[in-house]
Amino acid sequence: MQFLESFKPELTVESPGRINLIGEHTDYNMGFVLPTAIEKKIIFEFKKNGTQNNCNVYSKTFDTGFELNLNALDKSAIEWENYILGVLNEISKRTDKLRGFDCTIVSNLPTGSGLSSSAALECGLAYGLNELFELGLSKMEMVKLSQIAEHTYAGTQCGIMDQFASVMSVEGHVLLLDCRSLEYKPIPINLHPYKLILLNTKVSHNLASSEYNTRKKECEEGVAVLKKDFSEVNSLRDVSIEMLESVKERISETVFNRCSYIIAENKRVHNLAEALTENNLELVGQILYEAHDGISRLYKVSCPESDFLVDFSKWNSNVLGARQTGGGFGGCTLNIVHENGVDDFIKTATEAYKEKFNICLEAFEVKPSAGTTCYVN
Ligand code: GLA
Repeated sequence: MQFLESFKPELTVESPGRINLIGEHTDYNMGFVLPTAIEKKIIFEFKKNGTQNNCNVYSKTFDTGFELNLNALDKSAIEWENYILGVLNEISKRTDKLRGFDCTIVSNLPTGSGLSSSAALECGLAYGLNELFELGLSKMEMVKLSQIAEHTYAGTQCGIMDQFASVMSVEGHVLLLDCRSLEYKPIPINLHPYKLILLNTKVSHNLASSEYNTRKKECEEGVAVLKKDFSEVNSLRDVSIEMLESVKERISETVFNRCSYIIAENKRVHNLAEALTENNLELVGQILYEAHDGISRLYKVSCPESDFLVDFSKWNSNVLGARQTGGGFGGCTLNIVHENGVDDFIKTATEAYKEKFNICLEAFEVKPSAGTTCYVN
């Protein structure tokens, strides 16, 4: 693209991906989550280009880019462009201060791996433009408008966890976030001598987005029935297992399973946060295994590849616990592994996975990191 020839960026934004320690699919049920940003991120460089409306966005990583006009923010047929267009559309609804800009993007965050590369893209763009044009948006406004952009332009009815974690995370902590009030508490996480190891299955089954929206509907179906008997119920957050049992005859087995998973998962978030605070790492690991079991059997958002890796980890005494992290149907498993056993675990898991699925997995350590950062060049 032509602007690259003389591009002198004014501003750099580092926008991280995230892992979620626990609390999967609880966010859109107004429950609790425990995510943190990781060091893998998308880096943006921005410059005003002096035009009213013309913008250029170029991904160095994928060697592809596009031009756009701020007055014509229609959806694109190209997936990643929609994250950009959706954010610009939401910003334009809130302010008229946006002008033409040029932007390059480079990323070491794998896409489609359950590490929220889409939220990192949305929030990093919003953050950078907010600084560049002094739009005056708060962090929470950027988090929320990025979530809406995902609903409207990408078509996933996601909760708020990914955008929140990408922007608000605190180094060395996980965020205990109440997705209803949006109150949050950074909880220090010290796993020494254990490490957080991600195994990327390298699969992202393409039913992820449609099945995601189906899960949301199934939960709402449960809430609609529960609400008839319990008027105080507005989301699964307000439901106990006893309440759910009392309407069992009136809901399908599928809806029952989805709801019971969410109720248990919300409890697990609190139990795990407590176990972290007490440094009870065995319990942390055990809760991860329980959560994966729920993800796989009741909520049914796992896949053979993730199940295989989680099961495989159970045979290794250096692993305290593991589960699939993120929206599901592939992506990464998160493993708590003793530092002395990391190399061996990665080696044996890689071999076994290759033999079973003929796929070379990717393995890396992650550390709880800070949310979005921005600096003037
Ligand atoms: C995706 C969504 C999040 C959340 C997770 C599952 O990452 O974007 O809002 O629902 O799935 O926990």
